[in-house]
Amino acid sequence: MHVTDAHVEPHRLRLSGRHAVLEVSCPLPGVLRLRHAPVSSEIGFLHPELPGKRSWSVIAEEGHPLKVERDGERARVTAEGVSLEVDVESGTWRFQDAQGRELARCVEVSGEVQAAYPMSRHRARMKLRAPEGERYLGFGEKVGPLDKRGMHFTFWNTDVVPHHPDTDPLYQSIPFFVGLRGGVAWGFFLDESWRSEVDVALADASRVAWESWGPELDCYLFAGPMPADVVRRYAALTGRPPLPPLWSLGAQQSRWGYENAQDIRGVIQGYRQRNLPLDCVYLDIDYMDGYKVWTWDSARYPDPAGLVREAAAQGVRLVPIIDPALKLEPGWNVYEDAKARDYLVRYDRGGVLVGEVWPKPAVFPDLTRPEVQRWWGGLHRDFVALGMAGFWNDMNEPSCFGVQPDVGILTLTSERAEGIGQVEGKTLPYDARHGEKRHLEVHNVYALGMAKGAFEGLRELRPEARPFLLTRAGFAGIQRYSAVWTGDNSSHWTQLETSLPMLMGLGLAAVAHTGVDIPGFIGRANGELLVRWMQTGTFYPLMRNHAGKGTSPQEPWRFGEPYLTLARAALERRYRLLPTLYTLMHEASETGIAPLRPLLMEAPGDPEAAGAFDQFLFGRDLLVAPVVRPGQTKRLAYLPAGAWLEWPGLERTGEVREGGQHVIADGPLDTVPVWLRAGGAVALTRPAMHTTDANWQHLEWHVHAAPEIHGRLYEDAGDGYGESRLTELRGGVTAGVLRLERSEMGTLTRARTEEKIRVYGLTSVRKVTGARAHHFEDGVLELQVAADWTRLDVAP
Ligand code: GLC
Repeated sequence: MHVTDAHVEPHRLRLSGRHAVLEVSCPLPGVLRLRHAPVSSEIGFLHPELPGKRSWSVIAEEGHPLKVERDGERARVTAEGVSLEVDVESGTWRFQDAQGRELARCVEVSGEVQAAYPMSRHRARMKLRAPEGERYLGFGEKVGPLDKRGMHFTFWNTDVVPHHPDTDPLYQSIPFFVGLRGGVAWGFFLDESWRSEVDVALADASRVAWESWGPELDCYLFAGPMPADVVRRYAALTGRPPLPPLWSLGAQQSRWGYENAQDIRGVIQGYRQRNLPLDCVYLDIDYMDGYKVWTWDSARYPDPAGLVREAAAQGVRLVPIIDPALKLEPGWNVYEDAKARDYLVRYDRGGVLVGEVWPKPAVFPDLTRPEVQRWWGGLHRDFVALGMAGFWNDMNEPSCFGVQPDVGILTLTSERAEGIGQVEGKTLPYDARHGEKRHLEVHNVYALGMAKGAFEGLRELRPEARPFLLTRAGFAGIQRYSAVWTGDNSSHWTQLETSLPMLMGLGLAAVAHTGVDIPGFIGRANGELLVRWMQTGTFYPLMRNHAGKGTSPQEPWRFGEPYLTLARAALERRYRLLPTLYTLMHEASETGIAPLRPLLMEAPGDPEAAGAFDQFLFGRDLLVAPVVRPGQTKRLAYLPAGAWLEWPGLERTGEVREGGQHVIADGPLDTVPVWLRAGGAVALTRPAMHTTDANWQHLEWHVHAAPEIHGRLYEDAGDGYGESRLTELRGGVTAGVLRLERSEMGTLTRARTEEKIRVYGLTSVRKVTGARAHHFEDGVLELQVAADWTRLDVAP
């Protein structure tokens, strides 16, 4: 890049050539930020400097000091825990960790710009070396296995219906991956909201090639060495997911096609009459008056507040759908207000852009601008007052079925650059105006802005409650505000299997609260698919049954027996698991590490574990290999190193198997293959019809005895920001003697009326101290403990 100027500040190194600039800084320990502007018309020729840039994703401030050494053609930057060697001629670099291991190498940076009206055409490109055997995991919500080597992706939030196992792009754009080679992990995040693409060693097996349609490549490099370290650093940079309210982890029911309040009552009754747990019902678009958001069709829903109360009496919350597009209806206050405030997206030539979504014609609030986000947040006021528990944000790519031709007056020039006015997918044209910016730059962050506005609005309107949002579209950082579901899937077995790497990909990007439509949005499910999907969904952080308009009903009782009984068992299992799931969600809020994790999180050096994507870890201690194919009653599962106790469906126990091998698991229709790791301890409670609080009255620890045992439990009121308590269970078996100790932190008063500990893996039990009662049979020791127990000893 022919460096003409090297500028060193304590926190930043800037190398600039005639047209190219590279800036290096260190926002967090183990993380480097590199801004590459390979060719930029926006920077002056004499003192090239990068213009200030606002990130939608990054929340960490820059500011760890850098040490810069210059040696002829090389500059070496050292910061906390990482270093970068830059070839000042080419602008390429090598990224190393504190041990001097090369984690990543950039081998080419290039770009081009064609000045044109109304938008210059930019391309900024970077190629990373893709060493043989290196895996590229994640990329958020993308199809394919978890390791994306050999695939190509576009980051352009897209409404696709139906989507298939090979559809790309989908609704979310998260240009972040975890690299894994020889058991050592590192990470790469391209913080560009512009449309971008990545070729993951497909066109050239030795390169990962990024291309952004913006003027630069603003990227972040993360050191490991463990995958969890990379995720933790990424979450520190882009934000951790807040702990959702407990009720949102309960069972959820939805359908596009519940016509009115009577249907909503009916579905709640349907659950209760059959003793099926349920916490939440969604209201899809038909509640609105003419698809106008923030309105009610008063014939279908004469008394929304009354309906909220009726549902609450059954322990059920209501969550309405909110789409961003506003009906263009003169006189309607939301539209008039948005127009008067100049909050609407415009055509290139300046007029308000008119398209169509469910409302026709429709206009789009410019949710990429902070003032519009604040206004949008405030619009939740009336629905919050009615008692709506959360909000479901949809069509926020933004989806637009058609854009009306601009009838505005031709003002500046009729010569328009290539691609201008072009629409990619069902959305707005590339050149649509968002204040000073164009759609091409901010398309991917539209939903993030919507979620930010909603989240912050809800924090103000209902400060005592934790916001619950569910979104379809998003970008890196969406985890700070919202849960995510993967959009319009189908009732096909392949999509059940695909859901696992998709949710794990989101999880690696710190998007912890995720799920997919069970048992598929489009198409027709059968009882077997429903049951298998619910068994898998027991472990989705968000468990929602949803269906598209015109599909046959698919609530849990719609397929008769034995499916209803099996569906109930899956729901009950979900509620039994809530102490563990809630604790894992709390862990995610502190670390960014999602409950549903790939095996490689715990076994990065094991190639079989790293390649596994149709099975997963639930937390650290549970391994789940659900049956995701029709007609099968057994499946192959891989157990990483360690000893694993078969714990099918969390109900009975089977054999202990040594890890580091494949096993054939039994999985008849009533069984979900699950294993509990040796040393693992997970907390369960009794099944219930709905959640109440997360200060569990009935608690059951399940412990797989080993030399070292560790378990955790986080408890609080289940919502709000009040008192909490964190319990740590520690101990182990030494010379045949099992010792367990409990310690607690936090001020929440215990609500326990019953606590049991089930210990697996002991061969004999002679004397127990510290328990009220015990019973040993078939290798299972069951202990009843007092609410204030602190220590237990079991002698053989
Ligand atoms: C979109 C959503 C779907 C919803 C439908 C109607 O297709 O993805 O979940 O039911 O719109 O609102």
